[in-house]
Amino acid sequence: MTEEENSLTTALEYTLNEEDFLPKVIDIKKLTKTYMMGQVPVEALRGVSLSVRKGEFIAVIGPSGSGKSTLLNMIGALDRPTSGTILINGVDVSTLGDNQLADLRQSVGFVYQTFNLISRLDALGNVELPLSIVGIPKKNRKFKAAVMLKIVGLGDRMHHKPSELSGGERQRVAVARALVTNPAFIIMDEPTGNLDTKTGLEIMEFAKKLNREHGITLIIVTHDPEIGNQARRIIRLRDGLIESDEVN
Ligand SMILES: Nc1ncnc2c1ncn2[C@@H]1O[C@H](COP(=O)(O)OP(=O)(O)O)[C@@H](O)[C@H]1O
Ligand SMILES: [Mg+2]
Repeated sequence: MTEEENSLTTALEYTLNEEDFLPKVIDIKKLTKTYMMGQVPVEALRGVSLSVRKGEFIAVIGPSGSGKSTLLNMIGALDRPTSGTILINGVDVSTLGDNQLADLRQSVGFVYQTFNLISRLDALGNVELPLSIVGIPKKNRKFKAAVMLKIVGLGDRMHHKPSELSGGERQRVAVARALVTNPAFIIMDEPTGNLDTKTGLEIMEFAKKLNREHGITLIIVTHDPEIGNQARRIIRLRDGLIESDEVN
């Protein structure tokens, strides 16, 4: 490379941001959602636009009732918008039929506040479950589930039932279960809501590590600013609108 070319590349690198060229896993434009309560419309989302690129770690924060869960449910294809568009991995969700929507839901990793683990199954059984739903043979399931439990630091807890695990450990089983199908991204609705502050912050440390070391795209919804502050990008929702969208 000549000196001239070299200085040109340097100048370009200075003005361009490499991260802006990563593929968009989620692309939302002018999304609205209005629920009808009898005759009364409730505008839960009033025109939300945002995109998420592969490898991002985002917190969506906002007070109770600001539309956070509604937004997550749209992203996870659990509900349809009133207007606006949602692209997941470049596919317009509104063009999908029921079967394709069900497939899409399988490709989104959901982690709920209440963990939703099955109490009679041990950690390994819980993590295996989504694999049996998608028809992976039993032998491969056990292996994949065990690898995921090792990744979340529960290699020595595989045969513990949920009642034999701490709150933070149960949450990590729920994360392993969400990750095992290799989803495009993981969304967590108030993942620390049922945990004490210390355990909540530990879960966030763990989420950071998953993002950094394994490149997992993470979107976490929380009403707790201290928890939200752990993410790299923070989107604030208020009254169904984005109030701010900043890199931490
Ligand atoms: N299924 C529903 N039917 C009617 N109103 C709803 C429904 N779900 C949510 N809402 C209303 O939409 C608004 C946003 O709710 P939600 O997305 O759950 O907020 P958040 O998760 O930020 O607490 C609230 O005013 C809530 O009462
Ligand atoms: Mg909510």
